[in-house]
Amino acid sequence: LRHFAVQRRFDGTKVLITAGPTYEKIDPVRFIGNHSSGKMGLAIANELAAQGASVELIAGPGNYDIRSQNIRLTRVTTADEMFEATAVRYRDMDVAIFAAAVADYKPAQMASQKIKKSSESMSIELVKNRDIAGEMGKLKAAHQLNIGFALETENEQSHAQQKLEKKNFDLVVLNSLNDKGAGFSLDTNKITIFNREGKSTSFDLKTKKEVAIDLVQAIYELR
Ligand code: CTP
Ligand code: CA
Repeated sequence: LRHFAVQRRFDGTKVLITAGPTYEKIDPVRFIGNHSSGKMGLAIANELAAQGASVELIAGPGNYDIRSQNIRLTRVTTADEMFEATAVRYRDMDVAIFAAAVADYKPAQMASQKIKKSSESMSIELVKNRDIAGEMGKLKAAHQLNIGFALETENEQSHAQQKLEKKNFDLVVLNSLNDKGAGFSLDTNKITIFNREGKSTSFDLKTKKEVAIDLVQAIYELR
């Protein structure tokens, strides 16, 4: 059992968390998606709520085992829906954590009927989705903290630091895929946290619940 003081550390703090994948509609029965499970975002939501925060969880498709009355779940499907749900809430937040695996592109148009099979090849035109974290970074006020994630397969460190700058994050959490136990749909993760002073802290491979505790500690230390 954790000490009472820890349970109250985020009392009165409003936190928004994006989590999970987005599904971008091709036609009424098909979509472009990704393998994000939403487990990392959910673990962060559960931990912050356990420490007293009031959490708005904006989540793409998946199963979310909400452990606290302090969490309000808003379900979305597409990146556009996630953007809107985030944008209307952002100004009221003290902390925003962008843990979702947002699709970078969406079909230029959604077919109103199921696309029929015809020629030997076909292509779908894709257009860029809005950058939720990037846009909220432009709106960030002095009292707000924005936390982002980065998943890289090369030049991890410099790419993560570039994202911190570009999106105006206060912390960026690098997910290491190099380790076999880390990544999508697993219950473990290996992270490195970068701050604005260029300092980085690497953590061991841990359960997502333990990773959430480490990240929440890092956020607490920033405030
Ligand atoms: N992000 C977001 N909205 C998007 C794309 C990304 O909010 N449309 C957020 C993610 O939730 C994450 C951070 O931005 O916190 C970095 O996401 P990532 O996919 O690593 O970066 P991108 O800017 O999309 O660049 P790339 O995929 O080309 O590496
Ligand atoms: Ca991306």
